[in-house]
Amino acid sequence: MPLVKFITHTGEEHEVHVSAGTSVMQAAMDNGVPGILADCGGACSCATCHCYVDDAWVEKTGKPDDVEEQMLDFVMEVKPTSRLSCQITVEDDLDGLVVHLPESQI
Ligand code: FES
Repeated sequence: MPLVKFITHTGEEHEVHVSAGTSVMQAAMDNGVPGILADCGGACSCATCHCYVDDAWVEKTGKPDDVEEQMLDFVMEVKPTSRLSCQITVEDDLDGLVVHLPESQI
């Protein structure tokens, strides 16, 4: 099972193992990782699952599609590495993925 490491804005680290096919958002929610609200449940319509993909993983996670890009316009403190975590699916090739969590959502 792939490992995902979440790092909060205060530097607190949470490592979770998830089944392949799980979204990064769901990985956080299922494991009590603080900092992701996911109000829409993963429908890409709330932007409260904002995260920053670690620089080392940006290429592997890919770019947001048009819908995700539009939702990211609602996010404060958007960065080039910003993603909506519900739109990143953890597969075996993302084992060890590191994502950073913003200080607040929206
Ligand atoms: Fe709502 Fe990701 S959970 S956009």
